[in-house]
Amino acid sequence: MMKPIIAIDGPAAAGKGTLARRLASTLGLPYLDTGLLYRAVGRRVLDTGGDPADPATAEDAARSLRPEDLDRSDLRGPQADAAAASVASIPNVRAALLAFQRDFAAGNGAVLDGRDIGTVIFPDASAKLFVTASLTERARRRWLELRAKDVDTDIATVEEDMRQRDAKDADRSAAPLREAHDAYRLDTSEMDAETAFQSALVFVRSRIGGV
Ligand code: CDP
Repeated sequence: MMKPIIAIDGPAAAGKGTLARRLASTLGLPYLDTGLLYRAVGRRVLDTGGDPADPATAEDAARSLRPEDLDRSDLRGPQADAAAASVASIPNVRAALLAFQRDFAAGNGAVLDGRDIGTVIFPDASAKLFVTASLTERARRRWLELRAKDVDTDIATVEEDMRQRDAKDADRSAAPLREAHDAYRLDTSEMDAETAFQSALVFVRSRIGGV
């Protein structure tokens, strides 16, 4: 039997990662945070002093990406966020990362989170979730994460950066952030992580069967 592929998409800081990781461990599936791919490409460009918006530089960085690049400790924070969103809007970067994502799930199935998993990478995924929350709530959550890491910033700046990045992700022509027509929409604005997980698990099990 084909192993399930679970696609989890949505805007920044909606709670995709926490949910995806927990679903993966409960269902015994490998987990891939696809945002890390774009973050690592953006970081490689910054390392060389290049411009993440330059298509040729970004494509080179995507083609030479190595698995260990995903383990870097500098893939989060405002600079990495912006570089990731820039390289992510370049079609050849997305094309270069497509095979990695498909290969990851081949054989054993997987839970993947990102922006275009259910629309572009795995349009035939076994179950698709679109996880979202209000901008205010997502900014509050990201601000708390940053504060826990001692990043000195204020909520208004975090919210404005996030608003701009969401707009860029939704407005780009290459694989824009869209809710798949067959996705289960989970608005976590007024939901804690446990409630979101239980609700997602019921949906996923209804699609893939099993206990
Ligand atoms: O953690 P957060 O939700 O803030 O971001 P992320 O999921 O790590 O994604 C960082 C950036 O990578 C996004 O703003 C997108 O521009 C890009 N991305 C994408 O284009 N496609 C994906 N499948 C995943 C991320």
